[in-house]
Amino acid sequence: MKGQHAVLGSGSSQTQVLGTARRERLTVVDNEAVGPYVLLRLERSGMEPGVPGQFFMLEAPGQLLPRPMSLCLAPPGELAFLLEPIGPGTRALAALAPQERIYVLGPLGNGFDLAVERPVLVAGGIGLAPMPYLSEALGGPPALLGFRSERHAEAARLLPGAEVVVEPRLVTELLPGEPSDILACGPEPMLEAVRELAPSAQLAWEAPMACGYGACYGCVVEVEGRYIRLCIEGPVL
Ligand SMILES: Cc1cc2nc3c(=O)[nH]c(=O)nc-3n(C[C@H](O)[C@H](O)[C@H](O)COP(=O)(O)OP(=O)(O)OC[C@H]3O[C@@H](n4cnc5c(N)ncnc54)[C@H](O)[C@@H]3O)c2cc1C
Ligand code: FES
Repeated sequence: MKGQHAVLGSGSSQTQVLGTARRERLTVVDNEAVGPYVLLRLERSGMEPGVPGQFFMLEAPGQLLPRPMSLCLAPPGELAFLLEPIGPGTRALAALAPQERIYVLGPLGNGFDLAVERPVLVAGGIGLAPMPYLSEALGGPPALLGFRSERHAEAARLLPGAEVVVEPRLVTELLPGEPSDILACGPEPMLEAVRELAPSAQLAWEAPMACGYGACYGCVVEVEGRYIRLCIEGPVL
């Protein structure tokens, strides 16, 4: 677990939390269906892609609050996000047309620690989102993916070479027996199961987030008896 940041108060502590983050209005390049998910490609402008596992706040049209999204891919000149349209915010983002523009803030939070010797990527469902960028940063390590249907599993094409299972099989069945450095993202029950089997795994957690930089306390979660703001101490813990 990472140390407590000072967030509110002086301008310099705010700078520390925001790091290289910027808020810019980015132009939509395209929105592509990937199974039931949507890959939203934005022109990068002057924004940094950050460390895999960090996230961006995307301001969907007609929505009061921005929505947190992990960076999926960072091809030259672009930032791409994999969306699961489950509610008004994600549906509005998935409906954006080329040339429309949205405000984006990031990169935010703490990403994965890339100093690992035997990385194995593990993802469930939309937890696939940060994995293509993470895989690229780590030179294409083994990857294990689990989905709830064949249609959802179509998204595995974003991570060529990954081992894929579909329910009722669970991705935790594929975890290697030999020592490895697990980096995982997915629904909470999956992360709990991974942690049980690999206590030192790096896990990317989720909580509802309204600001993304420590100001609203909307993302407070209890970790080992301590309350933390997941947006600044996580999302990778
Ligand atoms: C750090 C981080 C990275 C994320 N990366 C991605 C990503 O790459 N792709 C993606 O599709 N989604 C991602 N999410 C989740 C995404 O932000 C939410 O699904 C989205 O905000 C839902 O907004 P909505 O208006 O579409 O639906 P809402 O109507 O707001 O929510 C639909 C349902 O999901 C629940 N919910 C909403 N947000 C969360 C949350 N953060 N955690 C748990 N339950 C929630 C709500 O309670 C409700 O039941 C990420 C979340 C976090 C915290
Ligand atoms: S999202 Fe506002 S404090 Fe974490």
